[in-house]
Amino acid sequence: MQGWKLWLGVSAIALIVMFGVWTSLQPDPTFIRTPYLGFDTNPTTTMVVSWKTAHPATGTVLYAPQADYTNTGKFSNTLTVPAMSGDKYNVYHATLTGLRPDSHYVYQVKISAGGKTTVSTPGNFWTPAAKLNKFTFDVYGDTRTYPARHRLVVEAMAADHPRFVVHTGDLVEYGGVTVLWDDRFFPAAAPLMKDVPYLTVLGNHEQNSPQYYEGFSLPPGGGEDGKEWWSMDYGVVHLVGLDTNALTLPNGFTRMRNQTAWLKKDLAAAKARGAKFIFVFFHHPLYSSDADYYPGNTGLRTIWQPIFVKYGVNVVFAGHCHQYERLVEDGINYIVTGGGGAPLSGFNATLVPGSVKHVEMLHYVRVTISGDKATLDMIPVAKVEGNKVIPVPHQPWDTLVITGG
Ligand SMILES: [Fe+2]
Repeated sequence: MQGWKLWLGVSAIALIVMFGVWTSLQPDPTFIRTPYLGFDTNPTTTMVVSWKTAHPATGTVLYAPQADYTNTGKFSNTLTVPAMSGDKYNVYHATLTGLRPDSHYVYQVKISAGGKTTVSTPGNFWTPAAKLNKFTFDVYGDTRTYPARHRLVVEAMAADHPRFVVHTGDLVEYGGVTVLWDDRFFPAAAPLMKDVPYLTVLGNHEQNSPQYYEGFSLPPGGGEDGKEWWSMDYGVVHLVGLDTNALTLPNGFTRMRNQTAWLKKDLAAAKARGAKFIFVFFHHPLYSSDADYYPGNTGLRTIWQPIFVKYGVNVVFAGHCHQYERLVEDGINYIVTGGGGAPLSGFNATLVPGSVKHVEMLHYVRVTISGDKATLDMIPVAKVEGNKVIPVPHQPWDTLVITGG
């Protein structure tokens, strides 16, 4: 080849490579996590819309009561969040305030960078009335390993149109690995999280990672980032999330002491406010017939169970063991729901005394509040045989009905 032709070819290739590098460095409004919902201080008047971008980008949440939007075709409210610089995760949270209680809202998020704009698929959500006593929420846990299995459970829950979802921990395999959040957890849950706020607690696999705290907006509480443990009223229900990893973390003894003191005060206050139901959520079960975790966390049992009994906690939900189990201990209902997508685990030959029902299945628990009654249905989603996932009808496999105080 003649010298000038070779020079021309090399120059052309260099230009193409440089253009590619330049393009990749340009601000680009791409969602890494499409918009998802979370709670803040008061669910009757606030909602948090979160998202993650590839590059710093200005975000605007467009929102309106659904009835207004239907009438006018326009979003009557906007909230703009400026592009962040120096935040390595690019996770944005927009707190919508001054919402109408007991209302249905629609929203969309627009992100802009480098003169380009991307608009999300519309989402919608409800705010509760202060004393709402007719609604559904879902509980599941241990989604960490198989996103496709997680998605099956998500799709089943979405059909309930729950007001919110509680996750009992071990959302991902390693909490410090970004790609597990962005390529596994969030894409699997995205269709539900767009319309349904999530309440989460820390599993051991979250590793107390900053990415957990960056990712989720949670009600006020205490410990790390003010949300290692939390509580919230939703209608007549009081919800409490605790961290069962606290003792294993730096200053574990102090953390645990602070958490337990906070718990006592929180439950006393909820009782004084007249909460009809109290539900507590954390990761490691106090009781379990799991083959590898039998008979549960006896240390935490000693510390927390007398408090649950004293303040009349109705149901304690946990995960960690990849199965469903319901137990009654000292008058408290304990439910282990760890069937969100992690490999299912088996049971000990002898069950914990007080165990009522147990099974290894992908599943979730549907909680239906109706007046003074709460109905807890274990909804099976699929059986797993070897590597084969076999969907099953979503008919209640176990049901517990409780009456509120
Ligand atoms: Fe776990």
